[in-house]
Amino acid sequence: MPFDRTIKIAPSILSADFANFGAEIKAIEDQGADWVHVDVMDGHFVPNLTFGPPAVKAFRRHVTTLMDVHLMIAPVDPYIDAFAEAGTDMLTTHIEAGPHIHRTLQAVRAAGMKAGVALNPGTPAEAVVHLLDMIDLICVMTVNPGFGGQTFIDMTAKVRTLRGMIGDRPVHIQIDGGVDTQTAPLVVRAGADVLVSGAAVFRGGTVDTPEIYGNNIRAIRAAAAVGQPEVSCGRPK
Ligand code: DX5
Ligand code: ZN
Repeated sequence: MPFDRTIKIAPSILSADFANFGAEIKAIEDQGADWVHVDVMDGHFVPNLTFGPPAVKAFRRHVTTLMDVHLMIAPVDPYIDAFAEAGTDMLTTHIEAGPHIHRTLQAVRAAGMKAGVALNPGTPAEAVVHLLDMIDLICVMTVNPGFGGQTFIDMTAKVRTLRGMIGDRPVHIQIDGGVDTQTAPLVVRAGADVLVSGAAVFRGGTVDTPEIYGNNIRAIRAAAAVGQPEVSCGRPK
């Protein structure tokens, strides 16, 4: 997939029906999702447990867009090959998950995946300054990771700093946590291009009423567009 900074909506299947992942993934992709965001939690790095490589491999059969796997686990390195074998396109690991993020990112790319690095709300933008040429995505957490449906924490100053640091590099800025129609324009205005959203995409819908997912995705996308500088300033690109 060629790099671009158009807005991408990545629904988090943490808010899907856990007994029906295949149909849920099809529903969100049919309804306009750009990426599928998969939250892997270990009950140790974060206080919640979700699923491991075998489940992610099963999801892969249903994903036709990009499978974006967010690891909230520590340690990371012993599991990198398993997530590559599961068919992960983008593997995002937390900078706080261990002492050797540089080694981890090297290993992620060596395993054939794109490499993302995630920053908890308390971690400064400057933590990635020496990593910018070895990553494809920076995930700015706008909640403390572990659960869906939490309240957005304003990290727009961090996003703005990161956008300046990235310059012309092909590095996405992803926002994860509490993204909805209210918060999407704020983070897009600051420089984000990938919006993860769980509760605000799945709210009110089921696989039998997928058009509700579609309405939710379109509403977030429309709100995000308002935050794009070329739109809000009324000037051409
Ligand atoms: C939080 C996860 C998120 C979460 C986002 O630990 O990384 O991806 O599912 O969910 P919402 O959009 O509900 O905050
Ligand atoms: Zn996530």
